[in-house]
Amino acid sequence: MVDELRFGFIGAGEIALQTARALADADRARLVAVTDADPDLARDLAGRHGAEAVDSTDELVARDDVDAIYVAVPHFLHGVMALTAARAGKHVLLEKPTGTSAEDAERTLRAVRECGVTLSVPFVLRYSAVWRKTREIVADGHLGELQGIRVVYTGQKPESYWQGGYSGRSKSDWRTRLLQAGGGVLIMNVVHDIDAVRWATGMEAERVFAEYGTFNTAVEVEDYVGVVIRYRGGAVGVIDAASNVPGGTGPAGGSGPRIVGTEGQLVLDGGRLLFYTARGALGVAAGRWGEVAAPQDRNARTLLVEDYARALLAGQEPPIPDDAGLEALKVVSAAYQSRRVGRPVRIEELFQKPVMAPRKTVG
Ligand SMILES: NC(=O)c1ccc[n+]([C@@H]2O[C@H](COP(=O)([O-])OP(=O)(O)OC[C@H]3O[C@@H](n4cnc5c(N)ncnc54)[C@H](O)[C@@H]3O)[C@@H](O)[C@H]2O)c1
Repeated sequence: MVDELRFGFIGAGEIALQTARALADADRARLVAVTDADPDLARDLAGRHGAEAVDSTDELVARDDVDAIYVAVPHFLHGVMALTAARAGKHVLLEKPTGTSAEDAERTLRAVRECGVTLSVPFVLRYSAVWRKTREIVADGHLGELQGIRVVYTGQKPESYWQGGYSGRSKSDWRTRLLQAGGGVLIMNVVHDIDAVRWATGMEAERVFAEYGTFNTAVEVEDYVGVVIRYRGGAVGVIDAASNVPGGTGPAGGSGPRIVGTEGQLVLDGGRLLFYTARGALGVAAGRWGEVAAPQDRNARTLLVEDYARALLAGQEPPIPDDAGLEALKVVSAAYQSRRVGRPVRIEELFQKPVMAPRKTVG
């Protein structure tokens, strides 16, 4: 085996730029070739990193000097691109969400597994210091028995976002389209938190209920969503997410994810980890709030690609397992489904009937 993992990129848009930078900073990983429907973007990205721009996906995945394909295209193309790479015998690092629905993701997962290559999802929060520390604190029992989890996402995406993301690098309205994106803020942004919560706490969602609407944005997807989750074992989850509220997050601190247990609480407040402990632990006195150190020494995306490359070069499974994307999407799809049928949806119901009936509008 070579001593570097050699990447090909399908998609050279907004996030691909960041992933390429992360690869450049990572040990034992290198960008070799890039393709994009817009050849100028492929050439631009390749040029920044001494890689080659190629004309087509087929040409990219056929290359002998590529070990893994990173896919960062609009959501509805994730499945087909992942499969194209897998059928050519390449490992697949597929951006979140791994499809436009849990069903879509499941089809992709099953088909990629049949090709005998690995699939992974760059859920970067797993490499953020505060989430890593949270996982450790939960595992060490410092919160006691978990009762509740709250995730709040209060965004104010500019109008231009819907035509080209935050950077405007690739002009397209796919983010506004239900069939192309699969949904709005829940599938686009909160899917990260859903995965992080699952990873850090080990809790699996059992039943999901949601209400959502489109209030402030001229798009087909939801821009405000409230979700209630019952986890196996009884803990309660609440998601309160919006992509366009006047004022965005605002100056109020402490509005990040909150994990509540019988012995304490954790609040992930940006890069700070706030901890309340009933018994006293981790240098915080009993009955007090304190801050637990969780310094982010290196960029989370760099840590992620480095860890991914290390595992694959050692012939191991990727650190983020292939079903992580599907498991996160089950919560998302159950939420959308519950709004459509007007009642809570059990996760186990999802694959017994179509999850994503084609619809033109949400709200
Ligand atoms: N992990 C994260 O933190 C994170 C952050 C942002 C975006 N993302 C995800 O990454 C993916 C891409 O998002 P983005 O913001 O970079 O979008 P983008 O629109 O900026 O880039 C997508 C790129 O795909 C290209 N493309 C479209 N169709 C193609 C085709 N048939 N063949 C080849 N290329 C094609 C477009 O030309 C564009 O350059 C999405 O799944 C998004 O949710 C992840």
